[in-house]
Amino acid sequence: MSRVALVTGGQRGIGAAISEALQAAGRKVVASYAGNDAAAKAFTDRTGIPCYKFDVADYDACAEALKKIEAEVGQVEVLVNNAGITRDGTMKRMNREMWDAVIDTNLGSCYNMCKLVWDGMSAKKFGRIVNIGSINGQAGQYGQVNYAAAKSGIHGFTKALALEGARGQITVNAIAPGYVDTEMVRAVPPDVLEKIIARIPRGRLGTAYDIARGVVFLTADDADFITGSTLSINGGQHMY
Ligand SMILES: NC(=O)c1ccc[n+]([C@@H]2O[C@H](COP(=O)([O-])OP(=O)(O)OC[C@H]3O[C@@H](n4cnc5c(N)ncnc54)[C@H](OP(=O)(O)O)[C@@H]3O)[C@@H](O)[C@H]2O)c1
Repeated sequence: MSRVALVTGGQRGIGAAISEALQAAGRKVVASYAGNDAAAKAFTDRTGIPCYKFDVADYDACAEALKKIEAEVGQVEVLVNNAGITRDGTMKRMNREMWDAVIDTNLGSCYNMCKLVWDGMSAKKFGRIVNIGSINGQAGQYGQVNYAAAKSGIHGFTKALALEGARGQITVNAIAPGYVDTEMVRAVPPDVLEKIIARIPRGRLGTAYDIARGVVFLTADDADFITGSTLSINGGQHMY
């Protein structure tokens, strides 16, 4: 029987490519989203992948949604923590709300979702978890102390949880994407984007599929010996 894979923020952007790639790899995929009903409907119509609306930053909402998903689709054996937001601003401009929103959505969500699937994966002695970090969590980025802290936190979270899961055959890995051509990056001013691309050795932005194929690799049943690692998918930018 196909394993159930849950992709948070899985109906658009990088998440949509991850959902579709996992489906193509034979997983029974479920996607979650925050509020973009139109994108969710269009995605389900196109792919047949069901979408569940809940806030990944809210533990109780995650618990309720997971209960529903497990009753309607089955136990989650593959989890991709992909949902994320940015609220950029220099320290001078960054208020507490911008800080909390990014920490809770990008990092708090990893706790919420992993906590809720952990007992089931442990009982089954199988689990694949991938957390989507960022090159900006590895290198830092001007105007992004909240985002860099959250993504850097994801890389530490991944290694610590991987240690806890190893004997139970639950692997926990991270992917640190570079700049990928999605709405999040299209919001960057064109002159800034031009400078960013000039610093990518490969000479282009990534595609969502570039990231998705990394997720398929790390979540394969036979990827049992890869855990606690961070896969950098960034066109070589981490070498700069
Ligand atoms: N794009 C890049 O270049 C890049 C680079 C490095 C890392 N990343 C990371 O890759 C991931 C995906 O990025 P993306 O560019 O594909 O983003 P995106 O196009 O903005 O999509 C974000 C997704 O997350 C969902 N989401 C946001 N807040 C949520 C919440 N509180 N609860 C549930 N779902 C929520 C959104 O749902 P709605 O559609 O309902 O809003 C959407 O599905 C993020 O973690 C991002 O930080 C992206």
